[in-house]
Amino acid sequence: MLSKDQVIERLKGVVYPGFDKDIVSFGFVKNVEVTDKIYIEIEIVSSNPDVAKELRVDISRVLGGADADVKIIQPKIPEEKSNSVSGKNIAPQVKNFVMVSSGKGGVGKSTTTLNLAISLAKLGKKVGILDADIYGPNIPRMLGEVGTQPQVVGNKLKPILSHGVEMMSMGVLMEEGASLIWRGSMIMKAIEQLLRDVLWSELDVLLLDMPPGTGDAQLTLAQSVPVTAGVCVTTPQVVALDDSKRGLDMFEKLHIPIAGIVENMSGFICPDNGKEYDIFGKGTTAKLAEIYKTQILAEIPIEPAVRVGGDSGKPVSFYQPESVTAKRYEDAARKLWEEIEKINNNGGADNSAIQPVMDGKSACSK
Ligand SMILES: Nc1ncnc2c1ncn2[C@@H]1O[C@H](COP(=O)(O)OP(=O)(O)OP(=O)(O)O)[C@@H](O)[C@H]1O
Ligand SMILES: [Mg+2]
Repeated sequence: MLSKDQVIERLKGVVYPGFDKDIVSFGFVKNVEVTDKIYIEIEIVSSNPDVAKELRVDISRVLGGADADVKIIQPKIPEEKSNSVSGKNIAPQVKNFVMVSSGKGGVGKSTTTLNLAISLAKLGKKVGILDADIYGPNIPRMLGEVGTQPQVVGNKLKPILSHGVEMMSMGVLMEEGASLIWRGSMIMKAIEQLLRDVLWSELDVLLLDMPPGTGDAQLTLAQSVPVTAGVCVTTPQVVALDDSKRGLDMFEKLHIPIAGIVENMSGFICPDNGKEYDIFGKGTTAKLAEIYKTQILAEIPIEPAVRVGGDSGKPVSFYQPESVTAKRYEDAARKLWEEIEKINNNGGADNSAIQPVMDGKSACSK
């Protein structure tokens, strides 16, 4: 017979479906008792029955088939679509939230977020960027705002206005280069504050630049605001595609409608002759879009100007609006906006299946 500690140890091997983290680290394991049999109580944030089913199979696997009574508590399936997470929207003045995510790091999420934001602003929308990459905030550098201090109003902060968009990031709140060891709960707090304690205007859309992977930041956002749509960024290499599936699976598990995929580093535009060359196999993302019943928002080539623009704080969509890349971002922004309107006409974001239970006590909390 396993001891309680052994059971908890084994449950650390159960990854929450759609995410990188296990159910113990997420705090979903509420109770473990071992008498003549094992009793486990788990409370999750999804009402999706498939998630519970997957968990049961995996729990049975880690327990090696030991006799166990597993209770999984789930939020009720909402009776009708509602545009809030069980009433929770901690930044209600924002009309739409778009999560820009990917399973893999370094594929161009921040670059995409930035240029989509500027392109949406060019369409006349009121746009904000929340840099939700708490560990490695890049947006301030990419906008040339390193060292810019936000204005404090009472106990709130005004977002920084840059290139026609509002922006807030941990990067402008911390000393450059300072590193903090972030625990999961600190990430949640930080993200909640970036939403609640920042004086965002009545934005048409707030783009959420996510850290790589699928973890605390993603889950916290889905619990704090109704995410209207998700955008997945990937590169055409096969490995990256496998990782992107994880990102797309997460959107599905969180009931976040997928607005589309941006295939980044798709081909190369040679600065010498302006010709486009295929390097990693462009166009491979189409299959992925088919599987997830979504569209390709753009194929963005590798263009040295994009990287230089990012490094020097001069985004290509703003400073080189005539470039191939800037035009494609504009196209993508138009498609994204159409998709947002479509989703809203269909009743809006439906993340109401996600419940804010993360503050609850877990059997394993210290
Ligand atoms: N289409 C492109 N052409 C040229 N360089 C690009 C392109 N897209 C991104 N880059 C460069 O690649 C690097 C990684 O991009 P970016 O920081 O946007 O990725 P990310 O997915 O946000 O990374 P992380 O996972 O670390 O947050 C940056 O130096 C960026 O300027
Ligand atoms: Mg990034």
